[in-house]
Amino acid sequence: MYLQRRNRILRATPAIRSLVAESALSPNDFIAPLFIDEGNNVAYEIPSMPNYYRYSIDLTIKEVKLLWNLGIKSVLLFVKAKDETKDNTGKEAWNPDGLMQRTIKAIKDAVPEMLVMTDVALDPYSIYGHDGIVKDGEIVNDETVEALVKMSVSHAQAGADFVAPSDMMDGRIGAIREALEHEGFTKTGIMSYSAKYASCFYGPFRDALDSAPGFGDKKTYQMDYANRKEAIRETLMDIAEGADIVMIKPAMAYLDIIREIKNTVDVPVSAYHVSGEYAMIKAAAKMGWLNEDKAILESLGSIKRAGADLIATYFAKDAVKLLNK
Ligand code: PBG
Repeated sequence: MYLQRRNRILRATPAIRSLVAESALSPNDFIAPLFIDEGNNVAYEIPSMPNYYRYSIDLTIKEVKLLWNLGIKSVLLFVKAKDETKDNTGKEAWNPDGLMQRTIKAIKDAVPEMLVMTDVALDPYSIYGHDGIVKDGEIVNDETVEALVKMSVSHAQAGADFVAPSDMMDGRIGAIREALEHEGFTKTGIMSYSAKYASCFYGPFRDALDSAPGFGDKKTYQMDYANRKEAIRETLMDIAEGADIVMIKPAMAYLDIIREIKNTVDVPVSAYHVSGEYAMIKAAAKMGWLNEDKAILESLGSIKRAGADLIATYFAKDAVKLLNK
């Protein structure tokens, strides 16, 4: 048999495969999400996220040091607000002594070089578990944006490097950027959840923060997974309004969106490998149905190949350890 081209030549050995690999994962790609709780020495394992914990501030600091030593340079913070602080205004979200604000300061004191990103949305603080203020059964846009602006400024005041609005209200990026400028926070970045879909894959996260919506769903603000062009429109608007980094969420069921956005925009693109994606791999591995280590690297590798420059993932630590093997 004569063949002019044999594609297997480039696959023959690990050496040639690594030389011609079109993409590669590195610790620089990862953002590690962290769940924070009140108290001391608290490590609560999230039932639907085996081996992932909600930590009190003291243990969070330990974790952040560990992450930094592994080469992970960014954390994304989520707090579990106490029930008694929840209401329909979200005011605990901009309490200068709130759990988020104390955590930001503690991390910045302990590991100043670690890039601290914070989730901006009202759901952890809402008695309704919604990302915004509720009126007559609806999530109202403009009042919610005012709350998100106060929340973002408060995070910046506490020392956050980036705020990450995950709420999907209209106009929030522009309003947050304007407020940060007015308040003199000209170095604070915005990583916008630009294309965030209404997804069942957030289930375990809502367990982690006890933040599941008390009524209805999030489909009037998060996107319909039937749509692709809308993701481009949302993302371009966020960039026009001042987003420094844009994010697609979830990741693996939305690789087409990641690629489409990567091809369209000129700012860094991030993807969120969400809690349900973590849970699926963990569950299958526990059953002995998947090789966990390989599933982690293949999943994150596919997100990178699709076009994500950054990946927020609960596997950040595992992935770095696997890459260093
Ligand atoms: C809150 C928020 C959610 C996630 C990140 N920020 C939940 C939601 O929108 O219901 C999900 C993250 C994950 O599932 O890992 N607005």
